[in-house]
Amino acid sequence: MKMRANFFLLIPCFLVSFYNLSLPLLFFTSLLSLLPLFVKLWLVPGGFAWRNPELNPGKIPGPVGWPFLGILPVLGSHAHRKLAALASSMGATRLMAFSLGSTRVVITSHPETAKEILCGSAFSDRPVKESARLLMFERAIGFAPSGKYWRHLRRIAMNQMFSPKRVSSLEGVRQRVCDEMTEKVSKEMAGEKRIVGLRGILQRGSLRNVMESVFGGGLGFEREEKLGFMVKEGYELIGEFQWGTIFQLGGVKRRCHRLTLKVKGVVGQIVEERRREGGGNIDNARNDFLSLLLSLPTEDQLSDADMVAVLWEMIFRGTDTVAILLEWIMARMVLHQDIQTKAQEEIDEHVGKHRQVQDSDIPNLIYLQAIVKEVLRVHPPGPLLSWARLATHDVHVGKFLVPAGTTAMVNMWAITHDPTIWKNPWKFRPERFMEEDVPVMGSDLRLAPFGSGRRVCPGKSLGLATVQLWLARLLQQYKWVPTTSGKQVDLSECLKLSLELKTPLTCRAIVR
Ligand code: HEM
Repeated sequence: MKMRANFFLLIPCFLVSFYNLSLPLLFFTSLLSLLPLFVKLWLVPGGFAWRNPELNPGKIPGPVGWPFLGILPVLGSHAHRKLAALASSMGATRLMAFSLGSTRVVITSHPETAKEILCGSAFSDRPVKESARLLMFERAIGFAPSGKYWRHLRRIAMNQMFSPKRVSSLEGVRQRVCDEMTEKVSKEMAGEKRIVGLRGILQRGSLRNVMESVFGGGLGFEREEKLGFMVKEGYELIGEFQWGTIFQLGGVKRRCHRLTLKVKGVVGQIVEERRREGGGNIDNARNDFLSLLLSLPTEDQLSDADMVAVLWEMIFRGTDTVAILLEWIMARMVLHQDIQTKAQEEIDEHVGKHRQVQDSDIPNLIYLQAIVKEVLRVHPPGPLLSWARLATHDVHVGKFLVPAGTTAMVNMWAITHDPTIWKNPWKFRPERFMEEDVPVMGSDLRLAPFGSGRRVCPGKSLGLATVQLWLARLLQQYKWVPTTSGKQVDLSECLKLSLELKTPLTCRAIVR
């Protein structure tokens, strides 16, 4: 092949000297002569990043994409749908190879292969993108490389921060924040427009809930506001990096750097203040993540810098996921009045109208739980499981060899919309989960919106407890109906770091 390429390079030289051709023509013929080389580098299954044939001996099928860019230009804000369609059209639902710039990626749209990837030890790392490094996530749970430090953080998270005891001890915070949210709903309904903009209320409530869980109360409006802006900015920046390994724009990097300095300033100061107050004293009666980290035994203690990274990640991960999921659920409630009524009847039967729903009522609200599951199925907040995995060594996935250093993704959205797995997958029908109890915590890969395996979401119980309680209380107190303008709820989606409703939900809330 090399000899052939050299031979083709000789052609323009020969043409110029022999026929005395003009420069533009020379340029054109030179381009032509490079064609074979170009074809060799690019026209292979999976495209440019898979150009070395040793990397793909089993020929994992996949789109060729664009030269140098791979399929980056075609993904956009519906990447999960485009990838699902590509895999299906190429008969590559088990495993498909593609290129994101020069990054080699495989993706599965099949639950069995998803289990192999998520639960196998070969994929226990994450590809650390520059955005994650710049935003300090490399020292936090989500992006710390699988090793001693990550295992240490995971242990603290599972045994302490998100233990069932701690999740239930935070119910007071959840209830208080929900009171504030319902107050805001009533205020907006009493306003001139008589409509509720739910996105703002849920985002604010979710942020407040995370802040209180992480730092306890009394942070002050100004700091809370600042941290809220920082989370927003972080989401925007990660979004801009999301699919890019080649567009590492200088401007975005500078913004990341500035944001990190701000986070270190604000969160670092809170840590320092708490230390001075004796925050590590176990008897100080505080019940937040920061106090917990400060009161760990000396051998488990984290440095202040690492503590800032871990706490910042909790705020970052815990805010949007919960708000986005609840906005999708409420959109479905407004759209499907019959389903809403059925859930309200269940609440009336098991709780009544004279006291507020509590965590302890949730196990009795089976239909409400089914609604949450159905929304997680139809609109998974992380359709591609948000953050991918990285192969730490060569590994066989099914019949294919996946080389070390390959990024692996699971298209959970494709799995939850696969008609061979789910009957009428496009129909919103919570009843399906009354007929068959499918767990959502990661043991059944047909529906694993929190991921699975060693890197499964550690905040899943806290996230689910929050969403279920708030949904129950919002449905107990109000009937949610469309605005009077006659505009239907718009279910168009937009994939940023999470899968969001493209148009923020506005509706009316009528006291029941
Ligand atoms: C509806 C709520 C949530 C959803 C749908 C969700 C989803 C996910 C998913 C899909 C992953 C990747 C799992 C994998 O690779 O297998 C993840 C990881 C993670 N989530 Fe969540 N999450 C939610 C709430 C939360 C909350 C409330 C927190 C913390 C306050 C949190 C903290 C994390 C962290 C730290 C990781 C990284 C784990 C690791 O790499 O070891 N999440 N989440």
